[in-house]
Amino acid sequence: MFDFKKHIADNIKSDIDKQLLYSAIINTADDSMGDYSLPCFKFAGMLRKSPVMIAEQLKNDFVCDKYICDVKAVNGYLNFYVNRSEMLTDTVCEILNKGEEYGNSTEGNGKTICLDYSSVNIAKSLHIGHLGTTAIGGSLYKLFGALGYHVVGINHLGDYGTQFGKMIVAYKLWGNDETIKEQGVKALQDLYVRFHREEEEHPELTEQARQWFVRIEKGEEEAVRLFEYFKKITLDDVKVVYDRLNVKFDSWNGESFYNDKMDKPLQFLESKGLVTVSDGAKVVDLSEYNMPPCLLVKSDGSSLYATRDIAAAFYRKETYNFDKCLYVVAYQQDLHFRQIFKVLELAGLPWAKDMVHVAYGMVSLEEGSMSTRKGNTVFLKDVLDKAVAKCMDIICAKNPDLPNKEKVAEQVGVGAVIFSALENARIKDITFTFDRVLNFDGETAPYLQYTHARCRSLFTKAGMSYLTRIARDYSGLDDVETLRLVKLLRNFPNIVSDSAYKYEPSILSKYLIDLAQAFNRFYIGHRVICEDLSIQNARLSLVECVQLALRKGLALLGIEAPEQM
Ligand code: ARG
Repeated sequence: MFDFKKHIADNIKSDIDKQLLYSAIINTADDSMGDYSLPCFKFAGMLRKSPVMIAEQLKNDFVCDKYICDVKAVNGYLNFYVNRSEMLTDTVCEILNKGEEYGNSTEGNGKTICLDYSSVNIAKSLHIGHLGTTAIGGSLYKLFGALGYHVVGINHLGDYGTQFGKMIVAYKLWGNDETIKEQGVKALQDLYVRFHREEEEHPELTEQARQWFVRIEKGEEEAVRLFEYFKKITLDDVKVVYDRLNVKFDSWNGESFYNDKMDKPLQFLESKGLVTVSDGAKVVDLSEYNMPPCLLVKSDGSSLYATRDIAAAFYRKETYNFDKCLYVVAYQQDLHFRQIFKVLELAGLPWAKDMVHVAYGMVSLEEGSMSTRKGNTVFLKDVLDKAVAKCMDIICAKNPDLPNKEKVAEQVGVGAVIFSALENARIKDITFTFDRVLNFDGETAPYLQYTHARCRSLFTKAGMSYLTRIARDYSGLDDVETLRLVKLLRNFPNIVSDSAYKYEPSILSKYLIDLAQAFNRFYIGHRVICEDLSIQNARLSLVECVQLALRKGLALLGIEAPEQM
């Protein structure tokens, strides 16, 4: 894409360093004040002149050309007016030539990012609490991929702990393979709940569970077989939901994977003199950093969540040699991550600085919007099903003849749920309301999908199934709505990289809403299908760009864009 800022910097006649000039030029917020602006305050000290005088002088020496058609000095700012038809041509050609690749880059080539997200617990279903990590992680996976990084998606399974001893006892007493086959992980979860209920009256169950857990740890055949069975049931179930959410994992190494990988890291920490013994337990004292000690080995010799995470960090560094290791985990685990990152830093590991806790807030459902039956888990699958069913009702009412209704309802319903977790800064707690996320006119995924389909429908109206010819002449498109669209479109690559590097898909979500609103203003204000074929073709070329950016942006959020709605 043509770099207008660079062109301006190169053509300003002055002794100021070109790089300095380049980085000082900003996008003008108000189009009537030009398109780019150079605030001259920055140079006043250096040049020993007032900003007003500097701006005047630079203006007088500036020669306009094919790209810059006017320049004005206003209150110490130097405002540049670009040749808009040049900017339009450049934008449209760039986007349509790159196609689906628009917004991608190669800056991450050769670099690896480990992305720990959605990490589920065995024998428990994906619930509404997993929506944040799954949607945010899923989007970061795609964003960093678009920037050329090799991304390793890791589902750090919660597959270790005394609860699996309880599961075995419950299964042997009350388990029924038929029910498990029918209901999947829900049946396992019910068994677990029952164990806790019965344990109160039959305290001997607790000891039995402990013994079964010891057998799992020792690797005894029956215990391991049952555990693997629970694991399979869980993974079969969650993978269906992951497919619907368009997320993917490259590793399913969970907590138990590190059973035999904790000794070396522990010895390493001991060799650094970090480990002290307190009440028979091995800990790293962190009082100097205002944190409670990081517990590594309990007095009975067993390991902890933190021990496994430290072992996992070593393993990931060794196996993938990551440039960054991200953990998309709820903010409630903030202390846990600060502790383990600090321990790694104190051990003198230079890569400790590359570990990042990407924290996010809670998602809760509006009171009474879903019956949770017994137990108070709201399964993610049920939330998706309900959103899809509601979408189906809307489609049947609004557009009953739509082909592929089921598929579109799935894309829109699921998209709406994903978007609800990505629309706000990730740290915010959110309350999920079906009516709000499914509002086709609100700031929602269905609104974006609808706008995308509206772009598509313009081609149908023009009697084409796709853009047949990229326009060359944009001189007739000199209005503010078009200009706003063009500027947004040019910014798409920056938005992609900003969203990734700030670990904040909401930047992209907000941008897509802006783009869709700008498009709808353009659509209302101008006739795309019109008598002047040259203008029609120019507008259609622009529409194609908008559609591409919407589809690509939605895909980077993990949301599909139906052709028709
Ligand atoms: N399974 C854990 C939970 O449900 C999340 C694991 C996050 N990843 C990690 N490496 N600790 O809370």
